[in-house]
Amino acid sequence: MKEQPSRNLALELTRVTEAAALAAARHMGRGDKKAGDQAAVDAMRLVLNSIEMDGVVVVGEGEKDEAPMLYNGEKLGTGESPQVDIAVDPVDGTRLLAQGRANSISTVALAERGSMYDPGPIVYMHKIAVGPEAKGKIDIDASITDNIKAVARAKHADVDDLTVVILERDRHQEFIDEIRRSGARIRLITDGDVSGALMTAWPESGIDLLIGIGGTPEGVLAACALKCMEGEIQGRLYPRNEEEAALARELGYDLEKVLTIDDLVSSNDIFFSVTGITDGELVEGVKFFGTGARTHSLVMRSQSGTVREITATHRWEKLMAYSQIPYDPSR
Ligand code: FBP
Repeated sequence: MKEQPSRNLALELTRVTEAAALAAARHMGRGDKKAGDQAAVDAMRLVLNSIEMDGVVVVGEGEKDEAPMLYNGEKLGTGESPQVDIAVDPVDGTRLLAQGRANSISTVALAERGSMYDPGPIVYMHKIAVGPEAKGKIDIDASITDNIKAVARAKHADVDDLTVVILERDRHQEFIDEIRRSGARIRLITDGDVSGALMTAWPESGIDLLIGIGGTPEGVLAACALKCMEGEIQGRLYPRNEEEAALARELGYDLEKVLTIDDLVSSNDIFFSVTGITDGELVEGVKFFGTGARTHSLVMRSQSGTVREITATHRWEKLMAYSQIPYDPSR
């Protein structure tokens, strides 16, 4: 039997990432990573708490660099059903924002309680991600060259047509050398691999594949979005040193295991929203115009597969009459 249309929490999440992006964007280029993150966290928490849900943060951010946190285990929402896991990244690309560079975004995901992978204290994950056309064709255990060839075949393209996005890090030098030898093109990014993963599933971005070692929380968020967009991500935990590896084993993490997209988020009812803070290939950044601002978001739900692009205009005169969030510091 077909169901009645049900509540799409993703639409409510749009207000969450819009609020975080609007608050954070005031700090663009000011050189203060923590201030931008704090503004986004505060705005995100306020709006998440207004949503009718019994939410718990499974994937928060902060331990890594003592950023202001929406901490793991924090309860959010009004406390009524549905019971959900929450993954947040109030600013992915805090340095991008502080330096006024492209591609800083605000993201949040919700899924059924117990369905999100808990990354615990393991900061990094080795990842490979693709969009829908190459779903089922990647293998984190195969060589980078074989993965690139497989994606090219799946997309009916030549290897030298493909663009691989990868974080510019010393730890990636061998990966970068191999990608270059394969003939594929490279888009080096200084930060922001959630955005990088999403771009693989967003045709307008021109990105085909994400490879590299980045944040584990960011890997779970990317999995939530890619499930909505019919893409794929695979990962494997990447402890930074022997101490971290020993801790991971003690906590019961399997460091050899390939984490599939279903391991990272097992639910098939996922809600995800991303709003641009600074301009990027995926979404436009916040534009201020004196009396207000414009935001650009992508909002999605895995059950229906609907991806909405939402451009919103926010008016300070009305908003600042009641909002607790200081969107317009001059008022
Ligand atoms: P922040 O916004 O928390 O600073 O994270 C940015 C980021 O580039 C992520 O997108 C990525 O997963 C991670 O940092 C990579 O970590 P590192 O900068 O330590 O290589």
